[in-house]
Parts: sequence; structure tokens; C-alpha cells
Amino acid sequence: MDALITNTINFVKEQLKEAEGGHDWFHIERVWKNTLLILEKENANRLTCELAALLHDVADSKFHGGDEELGPAIAGKFLEAQQVDMAIINEVKLIIKNMSYKASLGQLAYHSKEMEVVQDADRLDAIGAIGIARAFNYGGFKNRAMHDPSIAPELNMSKEAYKNTQAPTINHFYEKLLLLKDKMNTDTAKAIAQQRHNYMEGFLEQFYAEWEGKR
Ligand code: ADP
Ligand code: NI
Repeated sequence: MDALITNTINFVKEQLKEAEGGHDWFHIERVWKNTLLILEKENANRLTCELAALLHDVADSKFHGGDEELGPAIAGKFLEAQQVDMAIINEVKLIIKNMSYKASLGQLAYHSKEMEVVQDADRLDAIGAIGIARAFNYGGFKNRAMHDPSIAPELNMSKEAYKNTQAPTINHFYEKLLLLKDKMNTDTAKAIAQQRHNYMEGFLEQFYAEWEGKR
């Protein structure tokens, strides 16, 4: 493997060694694999996409007091030390800053094919079987209820409301996870997302049946 990619992997593993289970190195590895899968069919700069995928969560703002500049800054500093081309570094930083779901709820200042690919790769890891596991893991980490029928999901949340919600984890399916299939940028990711989406629909149906003691 390319030395730059190997160095990046080692750097990210070190950065994320204390991370919550849904945002750990294995999340990054899956997003990286999803990126390579999408790139089999979509045309975008491979190095930029790989670096952005590997570095996209080195300092997620929700685990760093809301600081949205820290992740891009840490990634940029690392890439400079690796003597990566400045144009690629800037592109990677912009992708990291703008690709998150939270960022997409606010004003978007940046767009590129590379960002489309990496954003899709990250979003694919939020749905399907892995998506379900990650949501409940995150809810547990935050000490949230799994489900509370008296608290309705809130659709069309603002970026601020989304960041501050305390709602049960099942609500997150309606507030984000089930919306993702229609937000995929590339046709390649759309096709993969549809299958993972159907799997979540089946999960919810079974969940409610069991909740009601019906099967
Ligand atoms: P982004 O990092 O793209 O802004 P989030 O941080 O909102 O997106 O979500 C990343 C993942 O963390 C989600 O896909 C989900 O697995 C988990 N997560 C975030 N918020 C919640 C929540 N309120 N309830 C359950 N899981 C959540
Ligand atoms: Ni991510």
C-alpha cells in the first residue's frame, strides 16, 4: 500500500483510540471501503477521496465542544507534515468541514465530486445493519431511552436543534436514518442505500411488533 495511506491509517488509529464505538477506527475503515466501492463506478480524484475518508472524523465537533474547525485543522497539519500537495490538503479540509449531516442542515459553502463520494460513503455507514447498531450504541453512550412512544420524532430540525436533541434512539431513525437514501449524491450509493433502507424498515416493523407483544 502507498506509504502516505499507511501513515494516514496509523495516525487516525492513534487519534481515535479513545473514540465511542460508532465513531472509532472501524467506522473509518468502513467509510474508506465504501469510498473505494463507490469509486469503482464514479469518477473522482482517488487520493483526495481516500484521504478525506480516512481523516473525516479525527475530531468530530460533537465530541469536542462543538468546535467545527478542529477536525480540518488537525487533518491539515498532519497532511502538511506528510508533504502532500497544498491543493489536495485544502480540498480534503473543505470536504471534512462540509460533509457532515449537521453541516448539510446549515448553509453549505462547498461542493465537489470528491465530497459527494466521501459523504455518500459516510452516510452508507449510518444505515442498514451497521446503522442500526451504531444508533443504539450512540444512544447508550448518551444514556438515551431506546424508545418512548410518548415522544414524537421531530422532522425538519434545524442544525442547532439536531445537535441538542435528547430524544430516544428510535426517533433518530425518522429524524435522520430513513431520510438518508434520498440524500445520496451518486447513483452508485443510491442503489446500495435502497437495500440498506429496506432492511431498516423491516427492523422497525419487527421492533414495534415485539414492543406491543404481538409476535
Ligand atoms: P455527522 O457526523 O454526519 O454530522 P451525526 O454525528 O449526526 O452525523 O451522526 C453520526 C452517527 O452517530 C449517526 O449515523 C448515528 O449512528 C449516530 N447518532 C448521531 N446522533 C444520534 C442520535 N440522536 N441518536 C442515535 N444515534 C445518533
Ligand atoms: Ni463518519
